[in-house]
Amino acid sequence: MSTRTPQTQKPRSDRPRVAVVFGGRSSEHSISCISAGSVIGALDPEKYDVVPVGITTDGRWVLESADPAHLALGPGGELPVVSGASPVALDATAALVVAEPGEVPRTLGEVDVVFPVMHGPWGQDGTLQGLLELAGVRYVGAGVLSSAVGTDKVFMKQLFQARGLPVLPYTVVRPREWERDRAGVQEAVDSLGYPVFVKPARAGSSFGITRVDAPGDLVAAVEEARRFDPKVLVEAAATGAREVEIGVLDRLDGGLPETSEVAEIRVGGGHAFYDFAAKYLPEQQTSLDIPAELPEDITHRVRELAVQAFEALDVEGLARVDFFVFAEDSTRPRVVLNEVETMPGFTATSMFPRMWAASGLDYPSLVDRLVQLALGRGTGLR
Ligand SMILES: Nc1ncnc2c1ncn2[C@@H]1O[C@H](COP(=O)(O)OP(=O)(O)O)[C@@H](O)[C@H]1O
Ligand SMILES: [Mg+2]
Repeated sequence: MSTRTPQTQKPRSDRPRVAVVFGGRSSEHSISCISAGSVIGALDPEKYDVVPVGITTDGRWVLESADPAHLALGPGGELPVVSGASPVALDATAALVVAEPGEVPRTLGEVDVVFPVMHGPWGQDGTLQGLLELAGVRYVGAGVLSSAVGTDKVFMKQLFQARGLPVLPYTVVRPREWERDRAGVQEAVDSLGYPVFVKPARAGSSFGITRVDAPGDLVAAVEEARRFDPKVLVEAAATGAREVEIGVLDRLDGGLPETSEVAEIRVGGGHAFYDFAAKYLPEQQTSLDIPAELPEDITHRVRELAVQAFEALDVEGLARVDFFVFAEDSTRPRVVLNEVETMPGFTATSMFPRMWAASGLDYPSLVDRLVQLALGRGTGLR
């Protein structure tokens, strides 16, 4: 936050100024860059004045290049990182101020809306949203609390349960228990039955997730998850279930949120589950069926639960809601919630945009709708 007097005041453009913020300190830095590259490319320059703002892996804000190639996955799968050199800050009047070392700060003018294309901690988790609330800037997507809850798989489950929504049985391993009561942890996990999934509470892109088939492998899996987060979730495996996802989007007229077609993810190529490689690397034999081939009552249930999950977390704007669908003869409910993503992967080939494209809303229209929703929404308590 700069308190120095800016040198120049650019003439106020009549196009809304949209700052696309991406990168950041989380393990999903590069995924965020790739998503942001697509969003920037889709924003109509005739309609919006787009400013790309990157956050480096050590948390510095910089003005970034809008060159799509700079923010794309390299030909050999190289991951993009924020590398801009000009430091930029959002000041308390919602202006973006560029402060080059040794130079008088200059302002880029007031921001009308921020599009936080951020995944994971320090971006998707309410921290950036809090900063924007303090500065009185409108922004795309979920507010402070729902962003925070949507990033924390433990609190998310607790809110689903409070609404009576179906989730898989789980236990939480916190640092104190892990350090002082290993036997208690082992017992709690054993009682879930194997296999279990061990996950960092606040990560994404399948980072730090391990399927554990036998009690003896638990310690290594918890240690792996703890590399990402000291709080770890251990969950009963959805053995034999299908994985489906759906998009939820607010309406410009403020009516009940709209749902997209349902998609099914079928992971092949030797992946035990939908891991990082299956999600992002090319030629991984992960196939998507949009719409998913599901009985009508199951599709209906997915849509209904998606809206209930969206409301349980008080999400605004958009969310992707992920489910497990069990067979008819399973002892589990047919449709069980896995998670809500308040800022899902947003490349043109990501699940969320593809589900909307299959529902008749193309990528540029989707991005435009999100910006319009944010522009139409107030700041502060709402
Ligand atoms: N309880 C579970 N049973 C079966 N598969 C699971 C379970 N939890 C996670 N997975 C697999 O791991 C993937 C990533 O887990 P998820 O909880 O969605 O975390 P992330 O936020 O990283 O996407 C899922 O898409 C699924 O393939
Ligand atoms: Mg997931």
